[in-house]
Amino acid sequence: MEIIERAEKLPPYRASALVPTMGALHEGHASLIRQARASSERVLVTIFVNPTQFGPAEDFARYPRTLESDCRVAQDAGATAIFVPSIETVYPQGFESASREAAALALPRVAILPQLEDAFRPTHFGGVCQVVARLFDLCASSQAYFGEKDFQQLRVITEMVRREHARWPGLTVVPCATVREPDGLAMSSRNRFLDPPARACAIGISRALNEARECTRGVLDVPSAEARMRTILEAHGMTPQYAVIRDGSTLEAVTEHSRCARALIAATLDRVRLIDNVAIALDRPAC
Ligand code: PAJ
Repeated sequence: MEIIERAEKLPPYRASALVPTMGALHEGHASLIRQARASSERVLVTIFVNPTQFGPAEDFARYPRTLESDCRVAQDAGATAIFVPSIETVYPQGFESASREAAALALPRVAILPQLEDAFRPTHFGGVCQVVARLFDLCASSQAYFGEKDFQQLRVITEMVRREHARWPGLTVVPCATVREPDGLAMSSRNRFLDPPARACAIGISRALNEARECTRGVLDVPSAEARMRTILEAHGMTPQYAVIRDGSTLEAVTEHSRCARALIAATLDRVRLIDNVAIALDRPAC
């Protein structure tokens, strides 16, 4: 497996399958790499902790950086190369200019209207779209793999690619199911910040999502399902930022035209912010 630091070394990997990450790789990332490898000879994993998608009060500085073990995880999962660019490679004009550029991007509706991640992390999707677009430009990939774990991000990137199909012709975004710990907690690079008591409480998120799935079977009563999720989160000592059921495509309110729905949660526990989501069945033809 080749480790690439400079963009000039990327041409042999054009048209590979791309797995963009910020490192601190775990089994969730490994599952993306394995799925990419199952349908492509060459898999390029990128590791870049992107400063423009972190807000000023967020955890950019303490985001885990574990390159050595990342290389092992990526190789074992079937990566052919890892691209670990410097900030200068990704943002040649410098961070200040990149931040201004991210803030000025015209984002898809799903990045600004739902009032989910967009409300709590107002500069986040500008930075995500900026860095992912830059990686697509540099890597010229054929397929790009993203996890459902970050469901709004997946929807935002899918819309960005649909809107800019002339810029990245033939590029497909492939969604991948969320990988969970045995007790149901979605794997995340931030789980390592939970101490044992907080880790035990964190199971409240998947319990709340399971409850939303159960109590909406047959009848979709959105307000009472949302109230149930909040109650469960609070009973586990978590502070919900949102706990909602939305249209699974627009992430706005469910309407009679919705073909799929999604329960989505963001909650904090001991200053660690966790997000997760599940599909909610609707009694109509699916998405
Ligand atoms: P990161 O958090 O490292 O996640 C990289 C990819 O792994 C994302 O597509 C994410 O949804 C997926 N992923 C994370 N945990 C997962 C899990 N438990 N199961 C399945 N997939 C999982 O998301 C980012 O990085 C960045 O925003 C990025 C897209 C790389 C842009 O900087």
